[in-house]
Amino acid sequence: MDVATTVARARAFCGALPRPLGFVPTMGALHEGHLELVRRARAECASLVASVFINPLQFGENEDLATYPRDYDGDRAALDAAGVDVLFSPPAAEMYSADFSTSVNIGPMGSAYEGAVRSTHFAGVATVVLKLLHVVGPDTLYLGQKDAQQTAVLRKMIRDLDIPTRVTIVPTVREADGLARSSRNVYLSPGEREQAPSLHRALIAFRDAMRFGASKAEAKSVALDVLSKQAALDYLDVVDADSFVPLDALRAPAFVIAAARFGTTRLLDNEWIAT
Ligand code: PAJ
Repeated sequence: MDVATTVARARAFCGALPRPLGFVPTMGALHEGHLELVRRARAECASLVASVFINPLQFGENEDLATYPRDYDGDRAALDAAGVDVLFSPPAAEMYSADFSTSVNIGPMGSAYEGAVRSTHFAGVATVVLKLLHVVGPDTLYLGQKDAQQTAVLRKMIRDLDIPTRVTIVPTVREADGLARSSRNVYLSPGEREQAPSLHRALIAFRDAMRFGASKAEAKSVALDVLSKQAALDYLDVVDADSFVPLDALRAPAFVIAAARFGTTRLLDNEWIAT
């Protein structure tokens, strides 16, 4: 595996790789969810590039940038073992010069749900992924269903800006008890870890209730009965899978999405409700 820490080196390595070229962007602290994206890309593409970059632009002022989990040596070994051809892991100063000021504004989708709680988050995600796509130039971008709104935002950016990259969405990888794998799960105390799978159970209860004809309000009350009383729910809603506009009645394609806090840890999850 070649490792590039500058844009120029990464561009040179990636430009020389056989096509089709797959790309898996990450912020590191890799777990089975990330590795599933890597395995899928490895199986489908002649060449594979991954990035590990904790993007300061997508963290709000009071968020966990300083304490975000880091395991660079472990990540590098795991990506090498998984057959990655090029790892791009730039320092922040390589991606953002001191006078960096450009930002990708995704429109209303970027300020709903996660964007309502984290106002600059999706602009930060879209900006860094646009930069990474320019450096790597992949045929296919691999993203996780786990972050459904991020995936919708990035697909929209790629459509709106005519970027010649396909997007493949990989289903959410879960623990045996249903908890979606996430780098932030390490923040959960043992008690919170026990309660956390109730978020997924609540989504399933909501989905099943609506599929059996319940209204959104009825389905929400069924889900709240299932969610741990120790969880603080930020939102639970049915949205159009492409636009993230809320839906009152079921129509495809739609997700049920939720975010809840367990102690100080905020967890996201979603399920298809109509395909
Ligand atoms: P990160 O949280 O490291 O996630 C990298 C990719 O792994 C994302 O596409 C995410 O959806 C996917 N992923 C995470 N957990 C998953 C799981 N349990 N199952 C399947 N896929 C999972 O998302 C980011 O980084 C950043 O915002 C990034 C896109 C890299 C831009 O900085």
